[in-house]
Amino acid sequence: MIYILIIILIISIVAVVMMSSLIIGLIRTGGVPFISTNKKDFDEICRAVELKSGEIIYDLGCGKANFLIRAAKKFGANGRGYELALWPYVWAQIGIWFNDVDVEVYMKDFFKINLSEADVVFCYLFPEVMAKLESKFEKELKSGARLVSYGFKLPNRKPDKEVITNDDNVEIGRIYIYRY
Ligand SMILES: C[S@@+](CC[C@H](N)C(=O)[O-])C[C@H]1O[C@@H](n2cnc3c(N)ncnc32)[C@H](O)[C@@H]1O
Repeated sequence: MIYILIIILIISIVAVVMMSSLIIGLIRTGGVPFISTNKKDFDEICRAVELKSGEIIYDLGCGKANFLIRAAKKFGANGRGYELALWPYVWAQIGIWFNDVDVEVYMKDFFKINLSEADVVFCYLFPEVMAKLESKFEKELKSGARLVSYGFKLPNRKPDKEVITNDDNVEIGRIYIYRY
């Protein structure tokens, strides 16, 4: 009986920690939730942005870093992720350790980092956040860097390339590439 109570207590503590970390994450990010990019689109995104081995790719709001892990494993990229929500961040660290890949994830606000070392920047964010990032990209991205946005366009810049991986009229599966 005591063992069952201990197991229920542990499960409850884990559930409370997960829920509160997601709620605190939502508060810290100004309401941008953790939603994963569709795994079936990972390789298409890397091909669309012509990701090469050894290139540095940033994922702004990397969640569990599944996209960066795939980009490192299959395309030989060097991944850097930034994430404010605790639970996806912890999950990302476990995934990186488990897959033994060249990916680093930091618990930092991506508005406070400098993007000048990036060859490629990946975003799966909201339109309002892309609008706020647009001038940062203009200022900090080096010449030749590429931005790949999943789902949402920049408001003022025309994409150099668009790839649609589904025929539904939804954002998921829409990939926009910008060259700087
Ligand atoms: C829609 S999810 C995308 C997750 C991942 N990039 C993917 O494609 O699977 C957006 C993530 O961005 C994170 N985020 C939002 N604003 C952030 C900020 N200013 N700094 C760091 N992370 C942020 C959220 O916590 C959330 O996990």
